[in-house]
Amino acid sequence: MSVVAELLEPFPFRQGDLEHSRLEEGVQHTLAHYARWRDGNPAAIGSHVEQYTAQLRAIAGRHTPAAALLRRVHPPRRRRELRDQALLELNYFGVYNLSEVPDPADVARGEVLARAHARTAREVVEGIERGRGVAGVVESLERRFPTLRGVAETRWLAERLDRLHRTLPETVVQAGAMGKVVRTLVGVLAIGGYDTRDAGRAAVREHLTRILPGAYAYGAAYAVIDDSFQDLPGEHMLPRERDRLHRLILRGLSTGGAIDPADVPDHPLAEEMHDLYGIALQVYPFATHRHLYHAAESMYLAQHRDAARRPDELRDGGLEAAYPDIFLKAGLSRVVANILGRRRLDDGFYARCLNTIFLSQFKDDLVDREEDRQAGRLTPFTHPGDGRTNPLLDLFAYDAYVVEQVYGGDPVAREALTGVGAIKLATHLCADPPGTLRLLDQYPVTPEIAGFLRTAAGVPRRVLPQLTTADLRLKREAAAVMGRRDPNSVDARTFVLDRLPRINEIVHNCHAQVNAAELAPILAYTMDGPAKRLRPALTLMLAEGLGVRGDMPESLLGAIELFHTASLIFDDLPAQDDATLRRGRPAAHTVFDEGSVQLAAISMLSSGFGMLARLDRHYPAHRVTDVVAYVGTVLGPQRLCRGQYLDLRYARDASPVTGEDILEMYRLKTSTMVEAALVPLLMLLDRPRVEIELVTRYADHAGIVFQARDDILDATASSEQLGKDSGNDVGKANLVRVYGLAQARRLMEQHRDAAVDSCAALPFDTRLLQGIVEHFAARGR
Ligand code: IPE
Ligand code: IPE
Ligand code: MG
Ligand code: MG
Ligand code: MG
Repeated sequence: MSVVAELLEPFPFRQGDLEHSRLEEGVQHTLAHYARWRDGNPAAIGSHVEQYTAQLRAIAGRHTPAAALLRRVHPPRRRRELRDQALLELNYFGVYNLSEVPDPADVARGEVLARAHARTAREVVEGIERGRGVAGVVESLERRFPTLRGVAETRWLAERLDRLHRTLPETVVQAGAMGKVVRTLVGVLAIGGYDTRDAGRAAVREHLTRILPGAYAYGAAYAVIDDSFQDLPGEHMLPRERDRLHRLILRGLSTGGAIDPADVPDHPLAEEMHDLYGIALQVYPFATHRHLYHAAESMYLAQHRDAARRPDELRDGGLEAAYPDIFLKAGLSRVVANILGRRRLDDGFYARCLNTIFLSQFKDDLVDREEDRQAGRLTPFTHPGDGRTNPLLDLFAYDAYVVEQVYGGDPVAREALTGVGAIKLATHLCADPPGTLRLLDQYPVTPEIAGFLRTAAGVPRRVLPQLTTADLRLKREAAAVMGRRDPNSVDARTFVLDRLPRINEIVHNCHAQVNAAELAPILAYTMDGPAKRLRPALTLMLAEGLGVRGDMPESLLGAIELFHTASLIFDDLPAQDDATLRRGRPAAHTVFDEGSVQLAAISMLSSGFGMLARLDRHYPAHRVTDVVAYVGTVLGPQRLCRGQYLDLRYARDASPVTGEDILEMYRLKTSTMVEAALVPLLMLLDRPRVEIELVTRYADHAGIVFQARDDILDATASSEQLGKDSGNDVGKANLVRVYGLAQARRLMEQHRDAAVDSCAALPFDTRLLQGIVEHFAARGR
């Protein structure tokens, strides 16, 4: 068959076409077929746009002041308004969730049916509005789907949503990711509810409880992959961890094989992703749902390409290069929701769904164009234009194409698509009439499109917002309520990762200000490496728990990291551990000469004390003096230096070393630095003696946990994973050597529990401190 002959028909997407290479072929075919149709059917497009305008006039007309007056005189008119709203909900639900044009019989029963679907969303909105966050979401879901009340799956859902809310990066939560999660979750459940609308109670319960975990997993995967993983700054996840995760996702989706938890990067989002994959496999086995995994893989790949595409590629290459991935991402999102939510998909579903949803993304991009421009995102409507592509024409023309070619010109389809589309666009366009009219100059528009834009610009603003669908309100409200969270309830690892860019900046400023002359390159090399920054993070956690307002003084955070890094430089020297690798780079003394490196480390210690002294700008001078004296003893011959000395001596001496000796050495060399990250803040704030004692006890156990884990990792992990030499402790005295791995682990866990216990009596919020010691015991690097 020649290309031209092939292009006579729209591409008939079927279940087997969800595999990504097949899908990409289908998309190319569709876009070419559409372009031919568009160029040959200007009249059909014109009348389709006129229908858009007519929809708008009808809705706006019913809300004129005169109509409002009439309504007051004739209250029954209110019913008509309800019907408008119900019809919108019905069309929206049908078109955007099910990719189905509502059945005319359903339209006749419009109010009843639409309310049934929209209520899901509306009631959840109410639950959320009462400010109860995750609890509100779950309670209102139970109210909407009484069959879900009290089932184990619902409790499970509450737990997972709560954990996700605590785990996502702060910027992602603030940007409203939880709104999308809840919307997606409710969307899949609503699809399931629709699917079982004529079934008995038991069947409904069976179906909804079965799809609930998948519905959650899908919403959460969006937040984790699309909102977080693709956009995370480099600090949040190391590039090699990101690559590893990328490969794991692709391997999982293409094979359905089990993923070894040991292969999953040590990152809260990577672990969530691993869990989500496990949930999906359990509810939707690979053997029976290969098409689901194909769709998910194709969607993931399109997203990945989209995220990796540099703006100048599009700018230089032309806008149409972006169309296929927009098509895939948008269309597949609903394909997946329907596979998850429905028991069976009928013939023609995939073609309808993929084609119908494609340009809904264009509408969103038109609506969001200002926000996207400010964020520097390149979309069809922030693109400077390539002289060939007209996204504004495509927005309407593709809609017309779908009605004609996919729905065979069905008037119900035209009514549904233009009804939903007109309101979606006009709600936005009427809010900014000058911006709307500017579109007339920006794009070559047909007279019909100009007519629609002018009409939309003229619709009184207060008329349309009340016609927002419950679905969109749900997303907005959930995002607003869950966009805030108590920093103390955040996952401890997420807390650290969220603050990493700021801590790195502070550390950088600190050594840059030292003005280290010839030693500056060594300071920069050792201080700016990809460190975990756990000690300054501990200070911030304590400050958060104590409810300290405002930023912590940079000098306090910088000094602790200077002391720690200096101790590592000495620790790596040939005379001590003789290490070759540190923080993923060759150890400093292998890059610079050893004498200079020693001098740089000494200068870091002295600069650190200078910085502590400067804390008198923030706190009373006598407390600052106490802190300086205290840190002096921590780093001195009774503590840190003694610990490092014992480490050396135990390695040299032939005399037997006991477990107690080792623990004491851990306390001296490692617990001291944990303590030094916490106690100075308590002293500066003049907290009671008993708190300092409890925090010291916490640090004592936490340091042992940290060092025990370090020694376990030295024996079990690779240098690549650790970013420092593994196997460096062979022949040295440590817990693993004395007790063996299993017993060393048990001891570590006992100290972890003891650290958590010592938090119990503290009169402030210690959740972060408890969380981080759990991480100390489980960390992979
Ligand atoms: C290493 O500390 C020294 C030990 C106490 C085991 P970290 O593991 O915190 O090292 P960086 O700062 O992230 O490089
Ligand atoms: C801790 O011991 C070093 C300090 C307390 C300075 P390690 O020798 O085990 O530290 P790494 O493994 O080299 O980071
Ligand atoms: Mg050492
Ligand atoms: Mg060492
Ligand atoms: Mg070590």
